[in-house]
Amino acid sequence: MYLGVDYYPEHWPKEMMKQDIQGIKGLGANMVRIGEFAWHLMEKEEGQFDFSFFDEVIAELKKEGFSVMFGTPTATFPAWLANKYPDILSEDENGNVRVFGGRRQYCFNSDVYRKYSAIITQKLVEHYRDEEAIVAWQIDNEFGHEGSDMCYCEQCHRGFQSFLKKKYNSIDELNERWGTIFWGQTYNEFTEIPIPKPTITTHNPALKLAWARFRSESVNSYAHEMTAIVHDAKGSHQRVTTNVSGGFFGKWFDHAENVKTMDFVSYDNYPVWGGLEKPIAPSAIAMAHDFNRGLLDKNYWIVEELMGAQGHDVIGYLPRPNQAKMWSYQAFAHGCTDMLYFRWRGMTKGAEQFCFGVVDHDNRYGRKYEEVKSVFTDISQYENVLNSEIQAEIAIIYDYNNIWSWRSQQQSAGFDFTVELLRLYEPFFNQNASIDVIPVDRDFAKYKVIVVPVLQLIDEKLAARFREFAENGGTLIFSYRAGLKDSDNNIYLGKTLPGYIADITGIEIYETESLSSTQTVEIVNDETGKRAELSVWRDLITPKTASVLYRYDDEFYRSSAAVTKNDFGKGTVYYIGGGVGSDVLNEIASEILETREIWHLETSEDLEVYRRILDGEEYFFVMNHSSEKMTFREELVPPFASKVIKGSL
Ligand code: GAL
Repeated sequence: MYLGVDYYPEHWPKEMMKQDIQGIKGLGANMVRIGEFAWHLMEKEEGQFDFSFFDEVIAELKKEGFSVMFGTPTATFPAWLANKYPDILSEDENGNVRVFGGRRQYCFNSDVYRKYSAIITQKLVEHYRDEEAIVAWQIDNEFGHEGSDMCYCEQCHRGFQSFLKKKYNSIDELNERWGTIFWGQTYNEFTEIPIPKPTITTHNPALKLAWARFRSESVNSYAHEMTAIVHDAKGSHQRVTTNVSGGFFGKWFDHAENVKTMDFVSYDNYPVWGGLEKPIAPSAIAMAHDFNRGLLDKNYWIVEELMGAQGHDVIGYLPRPNQAKMWSYQAFAHGCTDMLYFRWRGMTKGAEQFCFGVVDHDNRYGRKYEEVKSVFTDISQYENVLNSEIQAEIAIIYDYNNIWSWRSQQQSAGFDFTVELLRLYEPFFNQNASIDVIPVDRDFAKYKVIVVPVLQLIDEKLAARFREFAENGGTLIFSYRAGLKDSDNNIYLGKTLPGYIADITGIEIYETESLSSTQTVEIVNDETGKRAELSVWRDLITPKTASVLYRYDDEFYRSSAAVTKNDFGKGTVYYIGGGVGSDVLNEIASEILETREIWHLETSEDLEVYRRILDGEEYFFVMNHSSEKMTFREELVPPFASKVIKGSL
């Protein structure tokens, strides 16, 4: 297995390299990742390729037995390129060109940028195709991160129009499907179609979704072009990946599509970032791992694992002693097989002076150094466990088209897709069950439970897949707004909600209400008398064949259900009519885990236990996410401690 750090030898005086390599070796590392921002160092002037700096670095690394992951450098282009071809720079929605100076400010639709990226990528990979030490190529760096997947330049505008021309047979078809008759927006020519720059009120939702799909194609066709070049030019011992950044549901490209031609997925795991006073919730960190595992449906790498505090401007929370180690264990538990820490040493100059590394600017090998060393020593004993397949029986599904549909119309000020996905993920996570986070087009058959958060885009075909799953005994959980829209982002005519899934959910919804971000309503279970809160949105449900688990309890709506359960075929279908509180959802998850006989384990809050199985033996990864001492099976688990326990519990 590969363990190591992200190392930028070009940032430091050359004399430090030997000592750095010794220091990295002292961690027990066997890999470094290099090169991903060093285009200028490789092509100082147009066409003058020079890889001698990295030749030397690799030679030094090889002396100490290191393997290398090399990043293609297209996330930061040289100043001469922008100066010569200003059209490569992307534009924001107000038409402001993103000037040279930051990173990732290129336009994915710039032919010039594609040409120059292709050349540097090809030259670099060809140069090192026979280099045994280089075992993996990383394409670019964090596609689409920091807003770089959005550009409103003229090239993108023309590209959007050609994209539409290919997708629709004629302008009349587009007009019909988009409903451009509304507000008299009918187009005579594709060239008249705008991009959704600021206007008065808002653009047509169908245009907005088409624009999102175009953005996705822009990013992904660039990524695929670069990946194909690397695949063709590389040595057969070298594999190809790219590093996925956090915040993936907020991006404008389909991630599974992005990585589909890569050999494996890599993820950059930052549970805390600049400005945050505490890390994101353990469930949110876990979900990100499950998402990355789901992209290619196999285990993955972490190529940037946080060790120190981070921030470009305002700095955030300092991970407490052993906390970053615990996050590493959590990653390994959820399917990470190989890990690199970001970064070897914090940089004294440049924009990331406050992104702290394994070693800080004072170059002392201190607490963090020892922590990384202990991760590497401990975890290498479990290599086979880490490589074992995770076979979750629960899947939570998403569709980027649906996410973009919500982004085109938020509907409730309190709505956030990631929050809604986590709302349904957490009740199962809280009981330590394994969960896959997968795109909607995957096969449902291998799961016992499919969880479907806020999927408003459901067509007849997809509904048929859900129906078949339930008929065959599967358990489905839908949450609100399910089945509202078609694939053009339009509401179905003459269909009662929840549209094509009305029969399997056994309900009808005639009225709905958007709740403000501070508003909650009460719901009650008539059998147990239990009361709970609901926020963000409410569907006022009329049960048909479904039974009522919770109903509303405010004036006018006492006869409407809020949460229902329907027997359908051999299966069961739950419908959650709004932003239901965690107590209700925990209760439903418990019932499902019990009745469907899915492995789970009750633990104290913030004590996560993840089960892995290898050759019929169980391994439990235990992570204390809190600053409190905990006990687990009479054993003390100190604050932020993590360990692997073998054997049955
Ligand atoms: C990542 C990025 C790295 C570095 C790091 C800082 O998003 O890939 O290049 O910027 O954040 O924490």
